[in-house]
Amino acid sequence: MNKAKRNAVIAGNWKMNKTASEARELIDGLLPLVKDADCTVIIGVPFTDIHVAVEMTKGSNVHVAAQNCHFEASGAFTGEVSAPMLKEEGVEYVILGHSERRQYYGETSDTLVAKMALALENGLSPIYCVGEMLSEREAGNHFNVIKAQLEEVLFGLSAEQMAKVVIAYEPVWAIGTGVTATSEQAQEVHAFIRKTLAAKFGELANDITILYGGSCKPSNAKELFACPDIDGGLIGGASLKADDFIAIAQSY
Ligand code: PGA
Repeated sequence: MNKAKRNAVIAGNWKMNKTASEARELIDGLLPLVKDADCTVIIGVPFTDIHVAVEMTKGSNVHVAAQNCHFEASGAFTGEVSAPMLKEEGVEYVILGHSERRQYYGETSDTLVAKMALALENGLSPIYCVGEMLSEREAGNHFNVIKAQLEEVLFGLSAEQMAKVVIAYEPVWAIGTGVTATSEQAQEVHAFIRKTLAAKFGELANDITILYGGSCKPSNAKELFACPDIDGGLIGGASLKADDFIAIAQSY
């Protein structure tokens, strides 16, 4: 299938930024600017901003993502938030497996398998992040790392479930560093991800949206998005400023 037929996505990952009142201000700035965007626009907000974000984006072309969910639906897990809780709030997407969760919060493939299942059961579309560390790339091991991240977490899904998943390739060395993967490096990995998915899911791999993330900004977005297997971006730092985020969305 040709790229033009895949669903293009520009998703913001606000991380632990923006209080509810700051979120209100940012979304106010975004809404008029993104209304003609040629892609699906998503904002990945902290839990405390979800209510404001869902209310403000109702009836607009902006969708709301959470940045994590728990691997159980409910129970004695102090401080956690579950997929059914997100669903009832009106969240449509959930970022899973972000490298910051893997690095700082012990996220493993096992917990991700459980999170993925619960997210899908509750009608949330997962944005599943994969990506290698600098040392892994330098050792020439990046393809193996990414293959394992895909196989361990996605290969147990049915085709119907897989069709709801968005993938984000985020090389850890590019996240928040200002160093972006070159479009050749990114395209090479995106094509590899699609090939790996095709080995399990066949033709469906051609329909899967694969985003690039890692220091994506207005100045490099166009070149990245022009690559045949890059279907949009997961945007951290640059999603915190309405003008930059819009400029990236308009680069698709
Ligand atoms: P960045 O973050 O755009 O600030 O590099 C991307 C991400 O972590 O999703």
